[in-house]
Amino acid sequence: MSYRDIYAAWQADPEAFWMDQARAIDWDVAPTRALDDSRAPLYTWFADARVNTCFNAVDRHVRNGRGDQAAIIYDSPLTGTKSVTTYAELQKQTALFAGALAAKGVTKGDRVIIYMPMVPEALVAMLACTRIGAIHSVVFGGFAAGELATRIDDATPKAVIAASCGIEPGRIVPYKPLLDGAIEQARHKPEFCVILQRDQQPADLISGRDYDWHEVQQGVAPADCVPVEGDHPAYILYTSGTTGQPKGVVRPTAGHLVSLNWTMKSIYGVDPGEVFWAASDVGWVVGHSYICYAPLIHGNTTVLFEGKPVGTPDAGTFWRVISEHNVRSFFTAPTAFRAIKREDPQAEELAKYDISCLRALYLAGERADPDTIEWAQEKLGVPVYDHWWQTETGFTIAGNPAGIQPLPVKVGSPTVAMPGYDIQVLDEDGQQVPHGTLGAIAIKLPLPPGTVPTLWQAEDRFVKSYLSRFPGYYETGDAGYLDSDGYLFVMARTDDVINVAGHRLSTGAMEEVLASHPDVAECAVIGVADRLKGQLPMGFICLTKGVDKPHDQVEAECIALVRDRIGPVAAFRLVKVVDRLPKTRSGKILRGVMGKIADNEPFKVPATIEDPAILDEIVTALIALGYPEKG
Ligand code: COA
Ligand code: AMP
Repeated sequence: MSYRDIYAAWQADPEAFWMDQARAIDWDVAPTRALDDSRAPLYTWFADARVNTCFNAVDRHVRNGRGDQAAIIYDSPLTGTKSVTTYAELQKQTALFAGALAAKGVTKGDRVIIYMPMVPEALVAMLACTRIGAIHSVVFGGFAAGELATRIDDATPKAVIAASCGIEPGRIVPYKPLLDGAIEQARHKPEFCVILQRDQQPADLISGRDYDWHEVQQGVAPADCVPVEGDHPAYILYTSGTTGQPKGVVRPTAGHLVSLNWTMKSIYGVDPGEVFWAASDVGWVVGHSYICYAPLIHGNTTVLFEGKPVGTPDAGTFWRVISEHNVRSFFTAPTAFRAIKREDPQAEELAKYDISCLRALYLAGERADPDTIEWAQEKLGVPVYDHWWQTETGFTIAGNPAGIQPLPVKVGSPTVAMPGYDIQVLDEDGQQVPHGTLGAIAIKLPLPPGTVPTLWQAEDRFVKSYLSRFPGYYETGDAGYLDSDGYLFVMARTDDVINVAGHRLSTGAMEEVLASHPDVAECAVIGVADRLKGQLPMGFICLTKGVDKPHDQVEAECIALVRDRIGPVAAFRLVKVVDRLPKTRSGKILRGVMGKIADNEPFKVPATIEDPAILDEIVTALIALGYPEKG
């Protein structure tokens, strides 16, 4: 069947399409229907089923004869370690760790925060939670204690599972002090913590609260898989919105299993038993869906890579991993390829490895620039597929259905809507715009199975953030256009979200941090183009009257404050003190205009500007920061 036939079949009868996909899942109680629209515009999928995520990702493969197959290949150039975990071993490990959590009182519906680097135990912890119906929430290691505290207060976890440290090139990141600081800051106090001691830097444990990863499992009974309702949350993943309060995206169990399983062959073109690698981090949605869940649900081998595209030890590390582990499909962010291209423009490292096992490269997480796609395609000699999705959806909205029928690539487009998604481009009034016209990208409700049904304990915010602007649609927050062949082009965000090295961050959250500095009266943070990371945050601050500190001192304090409150991953280094911010007469800061000047793009000065002369000052500040970027 062609892609068009499959998409048309879904359009004609979505219920039948998803019930058909559901047959690939092992149910405790099979669903009698797919969609429940009784609370529209809120929807649930497979709600009357009973099912367990860990059983589908692990146990059933052992039962079906894959026990000796590698489930996880751990490859860590940062620590010089490699290991293989078979499905049979993973079953034992998840059952035992789930047993340890259960013995400490964790049960179905309890939340568990996981604050771990890229180690196999992170996957064991995630799967163990789903095994007993506990709801995990993984927090990315590059976030600071304050961000962890915010998530602890929102998810109110019974337990936190953490590692003693993470490892970044050239430095060890002690996680334990960050965890202790977060628990101190948070209003909610978890009952206990489990700490994985890493050799690189073990941590002191707090007696009565902290338990060692290994000791806590001693003598406990392995836990069985607990069937849960189809709409039971498998996990919560916090993502950036417009404010400092992150959004707790809920992932429903059954839809997650069905949709992810469907993607592995249809989009990524792999059969069970083959090796799949997503070079991301378990702290992001790509890590949840494509390092942990989808490959395991589908019976593939997943590669867990603790390293960077360059410097660990060189720009050939990706090629080594692909070649050594026989990777068939590879998924990463464009920024990783920009980093490799910058270091090794001729791809000389590639000549050292045989990567003929590789069938295709998949890029997502940020806009894939044509230069990067073309370079990757030329050097790797395999198709490069851009695909577009979000934390909220958990899998591809628009992509190239390569496993069904590879469609011609149009560089700059993530290709076409996947079954489940009716993508439309709307104008300000919610009317569809003609092909080729830029507008807000929206998805006609309902969203497909596995996508966000609500925000954790914030249904009103869910409705307000996503469903209110265009009634009957989900607002993606991205802007772009569709061409006459139905190819989508995603051009920019319509909100305060920026994308730094494939990491989704909120400029609003950074403004909140800057505004808390006692010398800052007013501020604005914008995203500016960066050749390596795609975008970087840039701040402009106005000082409180009477402050006579040197400007560079306040600027340095602001940089430190953002690093301390949000984390190093914010990569906030560009900031300038200015006298005033450009505003409209009604007081709206002209962030869009500032961004266009910084990116050397054409811009219009709005007629409502308060004082156009302020823009000259912004230009001076930009020049001092080295913008527009040269070259
Ligand atoms: N724990 C602690 N600190 C972390 C961290 C983690 N898990 N991940 C990143 N950081 C820190 C880095 O050490 C760095 O700190 P520094 O300011 O002291 O140097 C900072 O956060 C920024 O990190 P990063 O964005 O990774 O930038 P980089 O300059 O170290 O590396 C790239 C640049 C392009 C090589 C890197 O961003 C990369 O590999 N990107 C791939 C992105 C990706 O996988 N995205 C996921 C979506 S698919
Ligand atoms: P995240 O939720 O972290 O996955 O970030 C989602 C956002 O990243 C999207 O809303 C887009 O703004 C951006 N994004 C992700 N993938 C792509 C892509 N292939 N092309 C353009 N933008 C993308």
